[in-house]
Amino acid sequence: MSLSLYRKYRPGNWSDVVGQAHVVNTLRNAVAADRVGHAYLFSGPRGTGKTSVARLLAKAVNCTHEDRSQRPDCTCDNCLAVQNGSFMDLIEIDAASNTSVEDVRELRDKINFSPNQGKYKVYIIDEVHMLSTAAFNALLKTLEEPPAHAIFILATTETHKVPATVLSRCQRHEFRRLPLDETVAQLQKIAADEGVQADQDALELIARQGTGSLRDSISLLDQLAVPGEQLKLEWAQQVLGTSASESVLGLIDAIVAGDAAAGLERLRVALDGGSDARQLARQIVDTLRGLLLLRMGAPLSYEFAGDEVRRMKEQADGLSAPQILRTLRLFNEAAADIRQAWQPGLPLEMALVEALQAAPVSTGTTAPTSAAASTAPAPSRPAAVQAVRPAKPASNASNLAGMDAAQWGRVKDLVKQKNPNLAALLNSSKARELREDRLLLGFATDVLRDKMQKQENLEVLEAVLEQVLGRRCTVECFLSGVKSSDLPAGVDSSGAVATAVRLGGEIVDQSDQATND
Ligand SMILES: Nc1ncnc2c1ncn2[C@@H]1O[C@H](COP(=O)(O)OP(=O)(O)OP(=O)(O)O)[C@@H](O)[C@H]1O
Ligand SMILES: [Mg+2]
Ligand SMILES: [Zn+2]
Repeated sequence: MSLSLYRKYRPGNWSDVVGQAHVVNTLRNAVAADRVGHAYLFSGPRGTGKTSVARLLAKAVNCTHEDRSQRPDCTCDNCLAVQNGSFMDLIEIDAASNTSVEDVRELRDKINFSPNQGKYKVYIIDEVHMLSTAAFNALLKTLEEPPAHAIFILATTETHKVPATVLSRCQRHEFRRLPLDETVAQLQKIAADEGVQADQDALELIARQGTGSLRDSISLLDQLAVPGEQLKLEWAQQVLGTSASESVLGLIDAIVAGDAAAGLERLRVALDGGSDARQLARQIVDTLRGLLLLRMGAPLSYEFAGDEVRRMKEQADGLSAPQILRTLRLFNEAAADIRQAWQPGLPLEMALVEALQAAPVSTGTTAPTSAAASTAPAPSRPAAVQAVRPAKPASNASNLAGMDAAQWGRVKDLVKQKNPNLAALLNSSKARELREDRLLLGFATDVLRDKMQKQENLEVLEAVLEQVLGRRCTVECFLSGVKSSDLPAGVDSSGAVATAVRLGGEIVDQSDQATND
């Protein structure tokens, strides 16, 4: 078997390092100026070049080329020895398997002996965060007074686990996730060197799946590429699946539209087409998580393509944060359940249908946590509702159609002139109630409610209301479609509590002792 591609393409010189220019330039200048430090900490995500650059530095400081700025020259004896792994003054320690204090003490004892071959003894301690506290303390002693011939390079993916005392002794360099275009360019170069014809979009898919780790991306290329054969997107998709593939986005479209049948059909097609249910579940969860991030205005992670992100943004607009959270929670549970399910698609189907059940009881201004409250299992014994927080006073509620019908007709006409879509949205409102300076609007789903609650829509409607009613009036929206099945067991669906909930009240406390009221 040949060497795995990512080993074969380990950077041999500074110019081979992809990205990380900030690190490479600093180190290169330090070598040229003969001002190399005695302790470095390289931190950053896996597969981004930490070990490679550490070895490069070890090579450069021991290179014998006369012109320091040309080091490493990759031709002198020392360079060649480092390259083939026989250089005695390069000591690599995997802290993950040598975590004990004895290991570090042994290192400390040996460190005072002069280098055998080169000018510097270079210690690379990989995964340094794995060291025990005692081992860290022993290491610290060495870092405090390193012999002039010693250089320590500590590498870690988890800087926060490295004690501050150690951090403060080191020159720190942060390695970054590699951007998509640089990853793709490197994959292209490797594919060309290996005689593999690869489609650009196939390499992009690979790079996205590598999520910024060049090693992972190169490994994927290694698995997929067949020398002499064209590497095509379809093939890559078949093997890797896509991160937010058509079927997942289609499924979410169905959720946004509230169309269970379409969603189930999407699932069926994907599973019949050979998608692995667990993999599919993970992709759904990843995508919903992406939707949640978009909804909260947080930056999206790496693995989505531009056109996918555009579609996800639209989907995120069509769902409320509580709705996304609830759906995410359901599919996350489904992903965990698939292992035990006798029918692998079943947990996904159940999650979908449940996600499309009546939206959680919440008011227009409810924080996402209410989704958790409303999806909590109903108590097994009849519940006595102890407290209802009325979003709006439920008593003295006038008939929901009590806005004078003619006035309401005028409001709709005027809104229609300004924005026909908004008029359609108003038509879909299930309940209306005017209370002095507030208009309460009830909607059957939180998608509709959230649409109405967009600032620009509220502004139009409030301006029209002022025009028609002759006074300023604020608009508040709530969910009106509460079914008796959404009420805790034991709550009379025609009673005061149910009415309060229908008007958007939120149950904030309940005890499960049976009472008669
Ligand atoms: N910045 C980079 N430039 C070029 N190749 C890279 C880079 N980062 C990673 N690679 C490729 O990935 C392989 C592994 O990289 P390396 O061992 O340096 O990563 P690392 O950051 O030490 O990862 P880990 O945290 O898992 O130890 C290299 O042999 C090379 O093929
Ligand atoms: Mg490493
Ligand atoms: Zn050299």
